[in-house]
Amino acid sequence: MAQTRKVYPVGAVLLIINLLMASRIPLSRSILLLQRTNNHFPHSHFTPKRFPKSYPCPLWSSSFSSCLQTLHQSSTTTATTPPYISICYSSISKDPVTDEANPLLQDFEFPPYDVVEASHVRPGIRAILRNLESDLEEFERTVEPSWPKLVEPLEKLVDQLTVVWGMINHLKAVKDSPELRAAIEEVQPEKVKFQLRLGQSKPIYNAFKAIQDSPQWSSLSDAQKRIVESQIKEAVLNGVALDDDKREQFNKIEQELERLSQKFGENVLDATKKFEKLIIDKKDIEGLPATSLGLAAQTAVSKGHTDATVENGPWIITLDAPSFMSVMQHARNRGLREEIYRAYVTRASSGDLNNTAIIDEILKLRLEKAKLLGYNNYAEVSMATKMATVEKAEELLEKLRKASWDAAVQDMEDLKIFSKNQGAMEANDLTHWDTSFWSERLRESKYDINEEELRPFFSLPKVMDGLFNLAKTIFGIDIELADGLAPVWNNDVKFYCIKDSLGSPIAYFYFDPYSRPSEKRGGAWMDEVVSRSRVLSPNGTAPRLPIAHMVCNQTPPVGKKPSLMTFREVETVFHEFGHALQHMLTKQDEGLVAGIRGIEWDAVELPSQFMENWCYHRETLMGIAKHYETGETLPEEVYSKLLAARTFRAGSFSLRQATSFPLSWHHSNST
Ligand SMILES: *[C@@H]1O[C@H](CO)[C@@H](O)[C@H](O)[C@H]1NC(C)=O
Ligand SMILES: *[C@@H]1O[C@H](CO)[C@@H](O)[C@H](O)[C@H]1NC(C)=O
Ligand SMILES: [Zn+2]
Repeated sequence: MAQTRKVYPVGAVLLIINLLMASRIPLSRSILLLQRTNNHFPHSHFTPKRFPKSYPCPLWSSSFSSCLQTLHQSSTTTATTPPYISICYSSISKDPVTDEANPLLQDFEFPPYDVVEASHVRPGIRAILRNLESDLEEFERTVEPSWPKLVEPLEKLVDQLTVVWGMINHLKAVKDSPELRAAIEEVQPEKVKFQLRLGQSKPIYNAFKAIQDSPQWSSLSDAQKRIVESQIKEAVLNGVALDDDKREQFNKIEQELERLSQKFGENVLDATKKFEKLIIDKKDIEGLPATSLGLAAQTAVSKGHTDATVENGPWIITLDAPSFMSVMQHARNRGLREEIYRAYVTRASSGDLNNTAIIDEILKLRLEKAKLLGYNNYAEVSMATKMATVEKAEELLEKLRKASWDAAVQDMEDLKIFSKNQGAMEANDLTHWDTSFWSERLRESKYDINEEELRPFFSLPKVMDGLFNLAKTIFGIDIELADGLAPVWNNDVKFYCIKDSLGSPIAYFYFDPYSRPSEKRGGAWMDEVVSRSRVLSPNGTAPRLPIAHMVCNQTPPVGKKPSLMTFREVETVFHEFGHALQHMLTKQDEGLVAGIRGIEWDAVELPSQFMENWCYHRETLMGIAKHYETGETLPEEVYSKLLAARTFRAGSFSLRQATSFPLSWHHSNST
């Protein structure tokens, strides 16, 4: 549960952006990747390799995507009343005066996202930690190498902290405020300290080893074996075997890494938020489609230009994905593209928000940590819990690079020729802020597809209906809107219940679709809120049901129109839903490995890619692509063009993937 994030440092980000700009598509996707910070839930006893938080969306389109995870923490729930998911944490001793009123300490069925405030964080987390300290001591005294005396109590022990911490971190990601940040920052070292204490517990570690070496091993289920093995591995990576002085150093490093990665993410968000470009002259925004102008005018209104209109402005451009991307892809004004591009790639690299030193420090500390654990470098530590090895990963990247190089060079050539034929002054020196723009023009000319003209066919309500119909067809589940059943953090957030073919609830999820640059982190991700678990059964028989959340940053509704999505945004929703399904449709009752828990990072993209591929499936696509006003289905020939355009600039994408992966940052022995 101690969480370290992998960050994509400025340098790497620049590199990625460069490649990205030299590539066709999903600018949108790429941005998601760039913005994401990867936490991983390092080694904790309770969440043996907690799943990365988000499975932000892939860099490129379906066949190539592999998303790096942004994770974060999951949360959990407590409950008082029991429909399906209540858990009772009431054994916790409360301070009668203050704690009774703290929603973080109440039993709840679904997290009280609507009432949690920054002021609850310090007392809430401290009360939970106080109880956990004594619970842990008791547990260490009574632990035995058996399932009921080791794994079950362990899962119970860590659940509340996991749930509550996940909940407040989720709020930080979707509803950030200076007060919440400060509160989390203050209690974080105490939380990390407890995690380290738990993660380095010798009695627990020894009990797991004893199970592995005992005759009962052969009678354990695969899931149970998996839990034992990962707990042992995680404990070692958590420093359980270190001598006292080395452990102290290790713990300092972990604390510092946690702090730095929080800071890194905050700087990126703040820098993104800080930038805005006011445009008054209509000719400066020439080329921008109506949707983007609508968004830019809406942003202007929200920032005090109350009489801003789509037609006459003024307009405000921000670095939030929907705004930034539309400029890169559509603005005819090269100077504007350059300005916005430069602002984007240099976010958080100067002044108070400068992440450069943080990146260096993170790299240095990770290397130190690796050495303490007996590895040569941090890449090896990271691979210790993955299926791949450093060598295999590099081999794969090299293979990709080789296979895509010539095609990517050809893509660039095509772009030059095309822009020259169009009379572009910059044809001979196409650069980062030109490639997306000209790629879009080339795509339009080659396939006669204009992303903007497709938008009316992809309205959010119809896309969701189509997605849910698909899920019913493939998995036999019904997904029903359950707004009002659970508290939400923003009025645009939807809450859903998933039912099996007999009509019994099996899972729940939240969906937070729109970009909200002032308070919400960029990118798209999913995470667990709670996992399915037998041990945490609300009524002693039925397992606790899983809950997930999906977060996107797509184009918000403008005026009275629903959110009209780009095809890329549609793919993103399918993608995140694939991750969410893996968490929600699990039948595993062992909570520590149910759903997305405990899956190797290099395998997490399978379900998301699987779902994404359906966006090109004729029946599925035609089912969702209905004009939001007329109900007209996407014309057949447009579908054919979408299909044909699928491999447009694929070489550039693969090359970007192969060369932008920051593995080498963690793979040298010195920094
Ligand atoms: C950002 O920080 C780095 C390292 O501290 C420094 O070298 C660099 O000059 C800073 N950048 C700006 C633009 O201030
Ligand atoms: C526990 O809850 C499940 C699901 O709501 C229900 O089917 C079951 O009968 C309940 N068991 C008891 C003992 O109440
Ligand atoms: Zn993903």
